[in-house]
Amino acid sequence: MKILIVGGSGGIGSSLVSSCLDYYPESDIIATYNTHPGDIHHSRLQWRKLDVTIEDDIENLSNDLGSIDLLINAVGFLHSESQKPEKTIKEFDPTFFQHNININTLPSILLAKHFMTSLRSNKTTHFVAFSAKIGSIEDNRMGGWLSYRVAKSALNMAMKTIAIEWSLKVPNCCVILFHSGTTDTQLSKPFQKNLPVGQLHSTNHTTDALLDIINSSAPADTGKFMSYNGSEIPW
Ligand SMILES: NC(=O)c1ccc[n+]([C@@H]2O[C@H](COP(=O)([O-])OP(=O)(O)OC[C@H]3O[C@@H](n4cnc5c(N)ncnc54)[C@H](OP(=O)(O)O)[C@@H]3O)[C@@H](O)[C@H]2O)c1
Repeated sequence: MKILIVGGSGGIGSSLVSSCLDYYPESDIIATYNTHPGDIHHSRLQWRKLDVTIEDDIENLSNDLGSIDLLINAVGFLHSESQKPEKTIKEFDPTFFQHNININTLPSILLAKHFMTSLRSNKTTHFVAFSAKIGSIEDNRMGGWLSYRVAKSALNMAMKTIAIEWSLKVPNCCVILFHSGTTDTQLSKPFQKNLPVGQLHSTNHTTDALLDIINSSAPADTGKFMSYNGSEIPW
C-alpha cells in the first residue's frame, strides 16, 4: 500500500504520518512539507518538499510516485502573524482572501488533476481533503471568517464535482471531505481560549477518527462531507 500525505509536517499531518505508520504496517508513506520536514523518521517513510501552490511541482511528484492507494491533503491556512480571520467585512483584504484560496482550495484541485491516474485501481483507493464545518453554507449561523469560510466552501464544491466525474472515470476511488473539529495545532491556537470543555481534540483523536472513516468507506460513499464523529455535514 502506498500513502501520500500532503502537508505531513503540519499539526494534524504529522500525527497522520505516525498513525498511518502504525495503522498500515505494510505501507510505504510519502509525506510532504513546505518549510521544514517533520521530525518523524522511519524506514517506510520518505519526506519530499512540495509547495502546493506550484502546479509543476505537483505534476513532477505524481510522475515520480506512480500509483497511490490513499492520498490525504492536510494542508491549510487560517491566520498569519499579521492577519487574523475577518470579524467584519470592513477587515476584508483581497490579498488575504487570495492566499486563503491558494492554500485551502486550489491544492486539492491540482492534486486531483495530477493524481487522477495514480488513484485509478482495481482496488478501493481514497482521496481525502481537510475541509471544515465552517465551509457549510447551510450551517452558517454566525458569519465571520469570510476568507477561510469561502475557501473551504469552494473546496467542498470542487471535491463534490471531482467525486461526480470520478464515479465514472476513477470508479474505485472514494473522494472524501473531512471536518476534524477544533484540533490542538498551531492553526487553531489563537482561537482555543473560549472553547467549551471537551471541544478541543488532540491530533491523535482527529487522526483516529479520520482513519476509521477511511477504513469504513467504500467507493459508494464518494463525495461525502464527513465529520470526525462519523456523521455527514450538510452542504
Ligand atoms: N486545527 C483545527 O482546529 C482545524 C479545524 C478544522 C479544519 N482544519 C483543517 O485541517 C487541515 C490541517 O490543519 P492543521 O491544524 O494541521 O494546520 P497546521 O498545523 O497549521 O498545518 C498546516 C500545514 O499546511 C502546510 N502548508 C501551508 N502552506 C503550504 C504551501 N504553500 N505548500 C505546502 N504546504 C503548505 C504546512 O507546511 P509547513 O509547516 O511545512 O509550512 C503544514 O504542513 C487544514 O486544512 C485546516 O484547515 C483544522
